[in-house]
Amino acid sequence: MKIFITGGAGFIGSHLVDKLIEQKHEVIIFDNLFRGKVENIERHLTAKSARFVNGDIRDFDALVRKSAGCDVVFHLAAQSNVMGSVTDIDYSFETNVVGTYNVLKAAQKNGIKRFVFSSSRESYGEAQTVPVKENHPLDSKNSYGASKVAGEKYCQVFQSMFDMEVVILRFSNVYGSRDFGRVIPIFLDDVKTDKDITIFGGKQVIDFISIHTICDVLIDSITNREAAESPTNVGSGTGISLFELAERIKNLVKSGSKIIVEPARSVEVVKYIASLERYNKVFDIKINPDPLCDLPKMIE
Ligand SMILES: NC(=O)c1ccc[n+]([C@@H]2O[C@H](COP(=O)([O-])OP(=O)(O)OC[C@H]3O[C@@H](n4cnc5c(N)ncnc54)[C@H](O)[C@@H]3O)[C@@H](O)[C@H]2O)c1
Repeated sequence: MKIFITGGAGFIGSHLVDKLIEQKHEVIIFDNLFRGKVENIERHLTAKSARFVNGDIRDFDALVRKSAGCDVVFHLAAQSNVMGSVTDIDYSFETNVVGTYNVLKAAQKNGIKRFVFSSSRESYGEAQTVPVKENHPLDSKNSYGASKVAGEKYCQVFQSMFDMEVVILRFSNVYGSRDFGRVIPIFLDDVKTDKDITIFGGKQVIDFISIHTICDVLIDSITNREAAESPTNVGSGTGISLFELAERIKNLVKSGSKIIVEPARSVEVVKYIASLERYNKVFDIKINPDPLCDLPKMIE
């Protein structure tokens, strides 16, 4: 298949590119390098099966030109960071809302039937009860979550108005190699240099999921019929407190780092655990009961 991946030079996108190339698909990676890196994908660029376009999803014409002839769109490009989205609310709106609309419209114009959208647990905001089911109100707490809710709504509108099948996946916190600036890579960098680990608030409970599971689910979404029926959570279904995470990372690295607690940041969700009830009906990909199972691989 010929596959168009927005945000394909980023953390999740570049791992997805690795797997798609391994499975002999042809990929067009469309990324403005806002946070992505060419080094994440460059080993594929000498082959005919991968092409990189330094493009911006705010540019509708470029999207139409570059996605022509593709069979599937994975839409991953975004301001993917909660704090970044709060600091520059305009960029997150223009990229995550208008950009998502542009990617959908370009796909529809080019007759692309399958569209996979990376949404987030941030769509729910603060959970009324955990584990959180997909029918929980979408009460996003910050501009990142709001932009994902808007993206989801446009996906659903395109699905109902046009001949498109749209898969909406609400990821929990994804971790793995090549990521940076998020809690696990930050803690890892701290412990490797015996720097203190800073926890904001201290009450957070987070549902982590390995990049490898996420990529398997994304690839399955190319053909999975039920997945296009309504949004699906993709997480581990297990909550880990930030203290537990910090201790586990310290023990793995045998670090002497101390844990420092700073005041909570108001835009951050305190507790999230995904309900996997729908996931287990829709996907056959097994989730490891230990959400941090792939942590040791990040230390090697
Ligand atoms: N990593 C997570 O824990 C997580 C959780 C839930 C949802 N998601 C979603 O999954 C997707 C991928 O996330 P990620 O972790 O790989 O983040 P990432 O920041 O590594 O990847 C996003 C990519 O989008 C690109 N991009 C940003 N603005 C763009 C624009 N205007 N035009 C073109 N490209 C642009 C960036 O350069 C980057 O390569 C995002 O949509 C994110 O919101 C991620």
